[in-house]
Formats: sequence, structure tokens, C-alpha cells
Amino acid sequence: MSKDQAYWLPFTANRAFWQAPRVIKAARGHYYTTDDGRQLLDGFSGLWTSGLGHCHPKIVAAVQEQVATLDYSMGFQVTNDKAIALADEVAAMAPAGMNRVFFTNSGSESADTALKIALAYHRARGESQRTRLIGRERGYHGVNFGGMSVGGIPGNRKVFSAALLPGVDHIRHTHSLSDMAFSRGQPGWGAHLADDLERLTLLHDASNIAALIVEPVAGSTGILVPPIGYLQRLREICDKHGILLIFDEVITAFGRVGAPFAAERFGVVPDMITTAKGLTNGVIPMGAVIVSDKVHAALMQGPGQMIELFHGYTYSGHPVAAAAGLATLAVYREEDSFARARAIEPLFEELIHSFDSAPHVVDVRNFGLMGGIELSARDGAPGARGFEVFLKCFEAGVVVRNSGDIVQFSPFLDSTPDELGRIFDCVRQALASLA
Ligand SMILES: Cc1ncc(COP(=O)(O)O)c(C=O)c1O
Repeated sequence: MSKDQAYWLPFTANRAFWQAPRVIKAARGHYYTTDDGRQLLDGFSGLWTSGLGHCHPKIVAAVQEQVATLDYSMGFQVTNDKAIALADEVAAMAPAGMNRVFFTNSGSESADTALKIALAYHRARGESQRTRLIGRERGYHGVNFGGMSVGGIPGNRKVFSAALLPGVDHIRHTHSLSDMAFSRGQPGWGAHLADDLERLTLLHDASNIAALIVEPVAGSTGILVPPIGYLQRLREICDKHGILLIFDEVITAFGRVGAPFAAERFGVVPDMITTAKGLTNGVIPMGAVIVSDKVHAALMQGPGQMIELFHGYTYSGHPVAAAAGLATLAVYREEDSFARARAIEPLFEELIHSFDSAPHVVDVRNFGLMGGIELSARDGAPGARGFEVFLKCFEAGVVVRNSGDIVQFSPFLDSTPDELGRIFDCVRQALASLA
């Protein structure tokens, strides 16, 4: 690595990266352009962010207009017209009874914001002993201290172990190769895994538990699809014990599962939904926590001039981000994006499951337009096969992603059959050349 390279990349093997940097300098529609002029078909929609394609003209225009009209306005005790309008639109899309929207700048901030609202809610109702937060193994809720603590990815926690929040526990994850490998969509086995929450209510006493946070479909750890009935069961157990249920929909919201929210697709309404990514199609960083009327109402008490929740970010409700969000939601409606995603889901499922007996493959999982092909680890080199598939595809002109030995897919909501075919052909060739 030369001294010149100041940029320290996130979640990247930096020294290896600078040996052969991969640099994008432009994008349009479904393609990236690299700094050496190659066109890459983006099979990951940015980083789960850009379901409508890159540089969508309507979103670009909205951002350009907004930045020249109101670049920023104070966000505490003052706000801007775009933030108000976007909150209304997000609430209108959300499940019934979820009508309050708190803006953040990322998925990590959305997760931490939701956890703080959960603690504040119980305290406002006179149950301030309810402080325990429950996450799930293999969950990902970003990298801030709250999200990392309720998250269940060992690599993200190991170095920071001493600084993890106290009073956090985890239910077990929902994946079992022996019981559900190669399931198409939701596995039929495993609803009973939700009962692990009952175990924790006994261990800690339910009266001490504030909230459970789960991704409806776990994304980052390799597309772990909830077994049929599992989320319903979690909702029942939370209701029984007065525990708030938070769905982290940073990936699954805004069309990725062929619906505005996974909550709608699965028919389970949580108390809070955390979002980011697809809220602005990735164009400007922004997140939002959608909060039920019940939770919000509990916090709107005390003297009227008092701040109800001591929390917020300088850029909460940023006008340019909010303009990008408004344009994005309008395009989702105009292009009927969620229905289109739903319409190509069967082809996506067909294509990804054509790998069921491919070399090195131990599992194939899919839901909505989220997919994972899990490879067996090479002896002594876990993650190497997955990373090699990523690199070979990148060289061949297709962007996919790997999480260890799981190759992941997140195609655009309006992908064509040809594009899907090209993505999977590329992966097939990469797999065939793997040792
Ligand atoms: C479910 C989930 N929550 C939170 C995050 C963190 O989002 P960000 O990287 O915007 O902080 C992610 C990112 O992928 C995510 O998938």
C-alpha cells in the first residue's frame, strides 16, 4: 500500500484492495462504469440501496432542484417542508396504526433510535425497569453501539466486546442446514424457533424486557428467511409479555420483498420499523424509524413546551435527502415497482435454485428479490470461495456480493429476465472455475 492512499475503506480488506483497486466513477440505470471504462451489470442494486437503478432522472432532478432551493435548515425546534411531506408519505405507506416517522441518516442510526425509543416508551409508562434489549444471533443492525450489541455477528462484536451494551440477550437464529436447505421461499420447518423468546422471558423475567429487534429476513448474514408462522409467533409472544417488537427493514422495506414493507408481505405488524437505503434509492443518505401511534402517544405527555425525546441528529429530516425520498416514493408508485419486483420473483427463484446441485453449493435461499447461494468452505480458508466468486464476477462484468462463503443477490426491482440470466450465468462460470 503506498503512502498516497489516504482512503480507509469500510468493511474492506484494505491492504489487499489497494493491490488491485476496484473503482467506480459513474453509473446509469443498471450499469456502473469503472475508472478504466468497463461497464458492470449491478446485481446488487448498489448495496441493497438502489432498487430503481442508478441516477434515476426524476430523483436526480428533485435533488438538483432542492439543493438550489433549500440546502439545509435547522432541524431542532424548526423544520422544513420536505421533511414534513416525506413523513406523511412514509406513514401513508406503512401498516395501519404506524403513523409517526423519526428521521435518521443511516440504518445504524435507525436501529439505535428505535432502541432508545423503546426504553423511553417503557419509562414514560412507568415501567422503567424494562431495559433489557433482545436481538437475534446472526442479526445485523448496523455498527453503532446499540445496533452492534443487539446484532449477532461475532466478527462485528469481538473487538468491541467490552463496550457492548449491558443487559442485552439474543434469541437463536432461524437457520438449519439439515432442516431447511434448498427451501424455496419460506421454509416450512422452524416456526417453533420463536419460542426461544419465551425462554428468555423466563430467564430474565418478561417484566424486565423492553424490546425484541429482528430483521424479518436476515440480509447481511446470508438471506435467512423466516420459517412459515415464525414472525407471527414472535408477535404473539411479544404481545403476551408487553415487549415491543421492532422490525429492522433497512433492507426489506421499499420493494425488496415485493411490497412496501416485509411487515405487509408477512402480515405481521411490529411496533416500530427501521428503514434507510431504499427510502431515497441510496441517492442521499437517510433513514427513518416508523413508530406506532401507541408508542408515540405514550411519549407525548408532560408539560407541552418540554422536549419529549432527547434524541436527534443535525441532519434528521435533511431537506435534500427528504426531496430525494419524496421523488423516490413517487417513482415507486409511478413505475409500480413493488408489483414488478413481485412479478419477476418466480423467475429469480427458478434461476437461483438452478444452483441446487452445482459444485460446492450446500444451500440456496431466496425471498422477494433477495437471494443467497451458500458454498462449502475450502479447508483452512473460510470465506475464500465466496470472495473468489465475487472477484471473478466483477472481472467478468457483473457485481454480486459475498458474505463469507455465501454469494448474495439483490437485483433491481425492474430487472429484465435477460439481466437476471446474465447475473446467474456469470456466477455459474465463476463456480465452475473454483477449486
Ligand atoms: C438490517 C440492517 N440494519 C442496519 C443496517 C445498517 O445500515 P447503515 O450501513 O446504513 O448504517 C444494515 C445495513 O446493511 C442492515 O442491513
